[in-house]
Amino acid sequence: DTVESVIVAIDGPSGTGKSSTSKAVAAKLGLSYLDTGAQYRAITWWMIDNGVDVGDPAAVADAAGKPVIVSGTDPSHPTITVDGVDVSGPIRTQEVTSKVSAVSAVPEIRARITDLQRSIAATAPHGIVVEGRDIGTTVLPDADLKIFLTASPEARAARRAGEIKGADVAATREALVRRDAADSSRKTSPLAKADDAVEVDTTDLTLQQVIECVVTFVEEKRAAT
Ligand code: DC
Repeated sequence: DTVESVIVAIDGPSGTGKSSTSKAVAAKLGLSYLDTGAQYRAITWWMIDNGVDVGDPAAVADAAGKPVIVSGTDPSHPTITVDGVDVSGPIRTQEVTSKVSAVSAVPEIRARITDLQRSIAATAPHGIVVEGRDIGTTVLPDADLKIFLTASPEARAARRAGEIKGADVAATREALVRRDAADSSRKTSPLAKADDAVEVDTTDLTLQQVIECVVTFVEEKRAAT
């Protein structure tokens, strides 16, 4: 039997389990996977590497079209390259994390990356799980299923700190709340729940429970169409 291609948007702030959930759901259902945060991190990494002042929106806008960003969409082996260089490691540094909100607030950056995301989603053979902040609201407003993941700031900070060796939970919480505030208050497509998104509060759920919950939503959608 042929299975219809399905497009799933998963949005929410950091530390809600977005990446782990999105990858696992895509792998389970045979879909492609796109980490849009990694694309904003990659373009931020390029700006820093090329000496662009990320505090200067005009300088960032001028350079927005220069780097070539390629995302590999296999959920069991997601990759990201900038001008052919694998930046999977370097995009996770503290420096990139602290500067990505400023870069991703620049409209020229968002326009460029949004185009890229739409073309990747449109060419995914069996459908795709796309995770980010504005996927359900702006990038793919016609997605078949929209999920908005939330969790308490305490739970999110504890999860994030658990991923980083020697991290301090209080400091992690502060940095995370600051980044969410910046991402939610920017003018161009801020972090927001789409009206037709299903909200899942993951505070008291295990990762397995969140994955099962989202898989069930996708299967219900597929059965209904
Ligand atoms: O998911 P992440 O923490 O890797 O995302 C890094 C940053 O990228 C996040 O702070 C805001 C930005 N971002 C965005 O503006 N829009 C998206 N769709 C995804 C991420």
